Amino acid sequence: MTDTLIIRRPDDWHLHLRDGAMLAAVAPHSADFGRAIIMPNLVPPVVTGAQAADYRARILAALPAGAALQPQMTLYLTDSTDPADVLAAHRDGIIRAVKLYPAGATTNSASGVTDFDRVRPVLEAMAEAGIPLCVHGEVTDPAVDIFDREAVFIDRVLDPVRRATPGLRVVMEHITTSDGVDYARAGGDDLAATITTHHLVINRNAILAGGIRPHYYCLPVAKRESHRLALRNAATSGDARFFLGTDSAPHADSAKLQPCGCAGCFTAPNTMSILAQVFEQDGALDRLEAFASLNGAAFYGLPPNDDRITLTRRDTPATYPTSITAGDETVTVFDPGFALYWHLEKK
Ligand code: DOR
Ligand code: ZN
Repeated sequence: MTDTLIIRRPDDWHLHLRDGAMLAAVAPHSADFGRAIIMPNLVPPVVTGAQAADYRARILAALPAGAALQPQMTLYLTDSTDPADVLAAHRDGIIRAVKLYPAGATTNSASGVTDFDRVRPVLEAMAEAGIPLCVHGEVTDPAVDIFDREAVFIDRVLDPVRRATPGLRVVMEHITTSDGVDYARAGGDDLAATITTHHLVINRNAILAGGIRPHYYCLPVAKRESHRLALRNAATSGDARFFLGTDSAPHADSAKLQPCGCAGCFTAPNTMSILAQVFEQDGALDRLEAFASLNGAAFYGLPPNDDRITLTRRDTPATYPTSITAGDETVTVFDPGFALYWHLEKK
C-alpha cells in the first residue's frame, strides 16, 4: 500500500539549535522546516538584538545549501530587560518573539525572570507592539510537586499576568496537561499553545516504569496517560490555538546519562514521520497540515509557506539514525517506540 500526503511545508514554533559543534550537527536535521522559533537559552543567553542577529548568522552558516529553514529569533527575558531594546529589535526585524523562563525552571534558565512586577513594563510594551511572549509555564517553587508545576503556573502566574496585561499575545509553550489544553481553549485569539512531538507519544511511564530512561526526560516532564490523551485530542482536533513546537532539545549523551542528567528530547530528525503516524493512528491525517503548517503561522500573523512537502506511506518503515555525532559527543535521537511507515520525501 502506498499513500501520499502533500501538505504545506511545516514550521517548528519551538526549537533548540544550540551553538558551536552542536549547532553544526543538529541544524541540518531541521532544514526541511519552513520557519522555526529559535530558543535563546544559550550560555550566556541571547538577551540583546545584536546577539540575536549574530546567532541567526551562525545558524544560517550551519544549514546546508538549499535549506528551507528561516530562523525566527527570540530574546531571553530577564528581570533587567529594557522595553526599548525589545521594541528596537522587533522594529528592526531581528526578533519574532520574546521567551519567558521563570528563573531556575529548566536548562540554562538561571537568568530568567524572578519577579513578574519587574518585567511588567516590557510586557506592556510588547502588548502594545503585538510582540508575542513564548512562556515556559512551570512554577519553580520547590514545595510544588514537579507533576503539578504546569497547572499551578497557570493559576498563580499566567492567568494573573494575562489579566494585568490586556492584549499581550501569549504562546503557552510545550503544554503537557489537560489543564494547559483547557486554559488555551478558554482563551481568546491572543492565546495559543505549542505541543511537542514527544508529548504526543510518551507518558511518564516511558521515563520511569521498568527502569529509568533518561532519553525520555524533558521539561515540562511527561505526565500521566490522561494528559497525553488530552494533548492528542487537542493536536488532532484542528483547533487553531494548537500548533507544532517540537522543543527538539539536543544534549550530549554524556550530559544526559548522569546521576543528574539534562532535560530534553532530540526529535528533529524523525518528527514529521512520527507526527504522520500519530495523526494516522487517530484518524486525523487530514488535520496534520493545520497542526504543523497552518495554525502557528496564523497565530504569528504570517502566511503559510508557499511550497509543500510530501509524506509517503510505505510498507517498509522509514529508518533514522539512533544517534548523531556532534564534535566528540553522541546525541541520541528520540525513539517513539513504534515503526514509522511515513517517509518524508527528499527533493
Ligand atoms: O526539556 C527541555 N529541554 N525543556 C526545556 O525547557 C529546555 C530544554 C533544553 O534547553 O534543553
Ligand atoms: Zn524548549
